[in-house]
Amino acid sequence: MKEIYLDNAATTPVIPQVVEAVTDCLKNDYGNPSSMHRLGIRAEKRIKDAKRHVADLLKTEPEEIIFTSGGTEANNMALLGTAYSRMRRGKHCITTAIEHPSVLQAFAHLENQGFEVTYLPVDADGVISLDDLHKSIREDTILVSVMHVNNETGSIQPIREIGVMLANRPRKPVFHVDAIQSAGKLPVYPSQWGIDLLSVSGHKIHAPKGIGALYIRSGVRIQPILFGGNQQDGLRSGTENISGIVGMGEGAKWIARQLHENSDYLRKLKYTIVEKVKQALPDAVFNGNIDNGAPHILNIGFPGLKGEVLLHALEEEGVYVSSGSACSSRDRKLSHVLKAMGVDDRVLEGSIRVSVSYLTTEEEIEEFIPRLVRAVKRIERFTRR
Ligand SMILES: Cc1ncc(COP(=O)(O)O)c(C=O)c1O
Repeated sequence: MKEIYLDNAATTPVIPQVVEAVTDCLKNDYGNPSSMHRLGIRAEKRIKDAKRHVADLLKTEPEEIIFTSGGTEANNMALLGTAYSRMRRGKHCITTAIEHPSVLQAFAHLENQGFEVTYLPVDADGVISLDDLHKSIREDTILVSVMHVNNETGSIQPIREIGVMLANRPRKPVFHVDAIQSAGKLPVYPSQWGIDLLSVSGHKIHAPKGIGALYIRSGVRIQPILFGGNQQDGLRSGTENISGIVGMGEGAKWIARQLHENSDYLRKLKYTIVEKVKQALPDAVFNGNIDNGAPHILNIGFPGLKGEVLLHALEEEGVYVSSGSACSSRDRKLSHVLKAMGVDDRVLEGSIRVSVSYLTTEEEIEEFIPRLVRAVKRIERFTRR
C-alpha cells in the first residue's frame, strides 16, 4: 500500500536538492566560518548565500537574518531578547491565546520574571479582534507577538493591519510574528508589513530539523540569549550549523519559487479534500474558517470519535495525519487552540489535522478519501458495539 503523508504542518519531507546541498557541504565545506583561512572563508560564503535565499523568500536584506537552532529558538530569542532589552521602558507584552508553546512558554517564563502579559482571545474562526488589540496597548507595552498562521487550524491573523496599527503608535512596541507555518505558503514580507522580528523554521520548508532563522529589522536592538564566541554579530553565539544553514537556504529558494509559480496548488488540494469529505462523511465538522484559512492546513472534527484513535486507524491505512498539534501532541492535553475557539468538546476530542505540501499529489488526495471513510466507518462500528 502506498503511504500518504498528510502531516506537513508537523514537518515536511526534505527535498532532494536540499539533501544534495547538505551532503556537499558536509563533505567539502567543513571549515569553521570563524577561521581566517580559505576553508573558513568558504564556509562563511555558504552562510552568506543561504542568508540571501532566506532574505529573498521574505523580501528583506540578508544582513537582517540570524540563523538559530530552529523555530523554537527564534521565538525565544525574539521574545526574551526584546523583553530584556526594553524592560526599563515597560514590562507589558501582548500575545494571543492560540500561540505555539514556544511563544506561550517563553511568555510564561517572562511572567515569572515580573513581566505582565495580555493574552488576546480569538473568535470561532480562530482570529483575534483588532479592536481588542488596540484596547490592550498601554503606555508600558513593549512587545506585541502574534502568529501569522496557526499550526493547528490554519487560521490567519491580520498581520498587515496590526503592523499599520502599531506603526502609528507614539511609543511603538516591538512587533514579532511567528511565521513558521506561513513562510513559503503565503506571502509574508516583514519589511513592507511593519514587522520588527519574524521567526521561520527549516523543517517546515523542506529543509532539515534543528535549523531556523529570525528576521531582525535593521535598527531594532534585542539582547542575545546565548553568550559565547560572538558569532552572528554577537546576537547568536555558537559555531554556525553550516550544513543546516545551507539546507535551509536551499529550502527557502525552492519554496519561494513554489509560492510564486504554484501559489494556488495548495488551496486546490485543500478544497478537493473539503468537497470530498463533505460528500462522503457529512457529519464531519471543519474547525475554523475554510475560506479565510491557510492553504495547507485543515482541522476536521468527527463528533463522537477520538482524534487519536482515528489517527492510528488512518496509520493502518498508510495515511499519516496529526491529532491536534503535532508539536505538543505527546502531552495529550486537549488543544488550547480549539478550546480558545469555543469548539464543542465532542468535536474537539474527535479532531484531526490534515496538512498538505507542494509535494502532495492530486492522486494522493483522491486515494486519501476512501481510506479516511474506511477508517471512520471501522471506528464507528467498533464504538457502537
Ligand atoms: C507555529 C509554530 N511555531 C513554532 C514551532 C516550533 O518550530 P521548531 O520545531 O523549528 O522548533 C512550530 C513547529 O511546529 C510551529 O508550528
